[in-house]
Amino acid sequence: MSIWEQLRQIKEDGLRELENFLDAKELDSIRVRYLGKKGELTAILKQMGKLSPEERPAVGQLANEVRQALEAAVAASQEKLKEKELAARLEKESLDVTLPGKRRPLGGLHPLSIVQNDLIDIFQSMGFDIVDGPEVETDYYCFEALNVPKDHPARDMQDTFYLGENLLLRTQTSAAQARVMEQRTPPIRIVCPGRVYRADEVDATHSPVFHQMEGLVVDKGITMCDLKGCLEQFAHEIYGPETKVRFRPSFFPFTEPSVEVDVSCSECGGKGCRICKGTGWIEILGAGMVHPNVLRGCGIDPDVYSGFAFGIGIDRLTTTRYRVSDIRLLFENDGRFLSQFQGR
Ligand code: PHE
Repeated sequence: MSIWEQLRQIKEDGLRELENFLDAKELDSIRVRYLGKKGELTAILKQMGKLSPEERPAVGQLANEVRQALEAAVAASQEKLKEKELAARLEKESLDVTLPGKRRPLGGLHPLSIVQNDLIDIFQSMGFDIVDGPEVETDYYCFEALNVPKDHPARDMQDTFYLGENLLLRTQTSAAQARVMEQRTPPIRIVCPGRVYRADEVDATHSPVFHQMEGLVVDKGITMCDLKGCLEQFAHEIYGPETKVRFRPSFFPFTEPSVEVDVSCSECGGKGCRICKGTGWIEILGAGMVHPNVLRGCGIDPDVYSGFAFGIGIDRLTTTRYRVSDIRLLFENDGRFLSQFQGR
């Protein structure tokens, strides 16, 4: 084969091979085989010395053409390969945006909030305003104004967290009573929900922080009948119309007369069970007619006005409604417990 033919053959073979390579590795080996230092083209150029001086320029030119053609074909193939690789990568990394997303767990209301919201709804529908009071309270509003002077034995009823000589964590939402009576003139009809604190040992039924809702009604001609009617209505709305309501005489320094209110146990219907500790009744609140001393201390004339007050235990309402056997569950904020409640 003449050197001319050899060059044309190399070009033809090279271009054909460059059209049918499989991958980057094969492409590179084709390139080395034809264009490398020890490649076929170089081998032929080494024979140039044997040519006559007349032939050399023309053969040189052809060799250059062949080299350029092959180099161009290699470059084009490399480009094609890159495009193929990019397409493959995009294919592999592509996202299907129509796939369903990962669901994040949604929070919900705490059972205490659900019950508190229900209470607010009930009392709002009876015309009560919702008020807020401070959890850090003065001795005056928590005790003194409620007819519990210093050294009064009734202070022992409630073990208090003191923050200073006259500053404390309120032990009862009753602390809101005097604040409201000082600020408003009768007729007064408010409820005040919130946290209260007592230095109690923690067990299944006691917690140093718990929740109450205070109620206060002051107007001309308010009697014990109003108290009974209002609280019976409330109990039936929260526990159902078949629930029995019982008023027991009791004592609170700021009400006279005072009562404690029980409802028939919703679990056993009054027969006696674990929830009601065998009595058939569940105590849900303390109440009474506002003591004349309390009215007077707030600048309200007890000969003109009278009123009633009540304090509902929200935690007790919550544990009995949802049959929660241990009050501590309400404060541990375990998601597995909390996720079982639905309400607004
Ligand atoms: N404050 C009382 C308690 O915590 C409840 C109560 C409120 C009683 C209002 C009478 C009137 O036990």
